Order: sequence, then structure tokens, then C-alpha cells
Amino acid sequence: MKVFEIEKICYSYPDGTKALNDLSFSVSEGDVLGIAGANGSGKSTLLMLMMGCLIPSGGRITYYGKSFDRDTVRSMRKETGLLFQDPDDQLFLPTVWEDVAFGPRNLGLSENEVASRVEEALHATEIEELSKKAPWKLSGGEKTLVALAGLFAMKPKTILLDEPTSGLDPRSRRRLIDIIGKTDMTAVIATHDLDMVLDVCKRVIIMNNGRIESDGEVPGVLCDIEYMRSCGLELPLSVAGRSS
Ligand SMILES: Nc1ncnc2c1ncn2[C@@H]1O[C@H](COP(=O)(O)OP(=O)(O)O)[C@@H](O)[C@H]1O
Ligand SMILES: [Mg+2]
Repeated sequence: MKVFEIEKICYSYPDGTKALNDLSFSVSEGDVLGIAGANGSGKSTLLMLMMGCLIPSGGRITYYGKSFDRDTVRSMRKETGLLFQDPDDQLFLPTVWEDVAFGPRNLGLSENEVASRVEEALHATEIEELSKKAPWKLSGGEKTLVALAGLFAMKPKTILLDEPTSGLDPRSRRRLIDIIGKTDMTAVIATHDLDMVLDVCKRVIIMNNGRIESDGEVPGVLCDIEYMRSCGLELPLSVAGRSS
């Protein structure tokens, strides 16, 4: 079953920057899809379009076969969670517990149901011990896990993650990768952490200058040195180590 279908979309920012140019691909249920590309290649813009926060200048996006309109976007957002690159954009309540409860409360669930969603999400992200802490006092890695718990508490079918490992120390990064690896949600992960792509993604799209350069199975795509360099990327360390 196709979750998202992106057909020939283009996007230019109001200042005239052409961020995306004629992109087509689809995301099927159960996919764990990496979107890899150098800075400025258009990854975040693409996720914002998929969330319906930006409107394509050309082409179209469908969600379960329905073209994006107000109703489709509303029902898509009930089932889709976006993890922002900077968790500070996502966390704003006085305690971790309250922050994770914010989404489920907005769904109008009973306090019992909210509490059980929060407990479950804190457990899945292994941060029960942070529940009473203030989000702004946490480390970058902890903040990312809290933001992820906030997504999980909504029980989304699909998660879109924007550079989830950027700025994390190796231990937080490993923890995050293990958690992502365990979920059975459909996931789209924008990143230049190619070792994470090797670890958790089955498929990867390589973006360069707002275009899709390739779309294929991991690890095949990631192992061609010349090709990866031409896209502003380096081989994943684990692959580079093997070939030298
Ligand atoms: N708000 C904005 N206004 C104008 N240009 C932007 C804006 N946000 C991003 N861009 C430009 O769009 C292109 C794609 O950016 P982005 O989607 O953030 O790439 P990535 O997430 O891969 O680093 C870049 O050239 C960037 O400078
Ligand atoms: Mg980005």
C-alpha cells in the first residue's frame, strides 16, 4: 500500500531559491527510507512539503491515493509525525512528561489514556527517568529522545525524521538508532549519517541540488566512491574501512 506518492514536485522559496526540481518517488507501508544528501540538497524542504507545511510550485503529492487538499492534509497529520532537526523547536512545556502528553491531550483523550500513552512512549524511548525534568535542561541527545517520545505518544503510522542524529554523541546516537530500528512504523529519515542509513534503512534516495540522483537498495547505492563524492557525500565509515 502506497502511503505517500510524490509526483514531479518542484519547490521554489519566495526569494526565488529553487530548492526542489522534478522529484518523484513513493513511500510504501513498512518502508524505512533514507533521504541522504549534502547540506542544501533539499531534504528538509521535502519533509516540509510531505507534511503539507509548504505547497509545491509544481507536481503533486498524494496520501493513500488522495491528492493533498485541506482534508487529506488534516487526516495525514493525524497519522504522521515529524521530528524537527532542532528539538528546541519541538519542546516547550515545563516537564518532559507534560511535553510528551501535549499531543495525546490535543487528541481529546481521557487523562487515563493520556497517561498510558505517555508511559508507553517514555518506555519505548528508554527515558522514563527523565519524566520530571525540564526539557531545556537536557542534553541534545536527551532532547531528541523526548521529541521522539512526543511523536510516539501520538501512535503515528508514519514518522518523518529530519537529521535525527545530528549533534548527538556516539552513545545517544547508538541509542536513537536502536530505537528507530525497533519500531515497525513506516519511516522516512533525512540525514547525512550514512552509517545510520546502512544500519536501519532498506532503501535510500540520494539527493543533490534539489534533484533525486538515485533511489535504490541499501547498501548497493552507498558503496560507489566516485558517485557518492559527486553528490557531496562520503562513503559510510563502515564501508570505507572495509575497502581501504
Ligand atoms: N526559508 C528559506 N528561504 C530561502 N531559501 C531557503 C529557505 N530554506 C531553505 N532554503 C534553501 O533551499 C535549499 C534546500 O534547503 P534544505 O531543504 O534546508 O536542504 P537540506 O535540508 O538538505 O540541508 C538550499 O539552497 C537552502 O539554502
Ligand atoms: Mg535540513
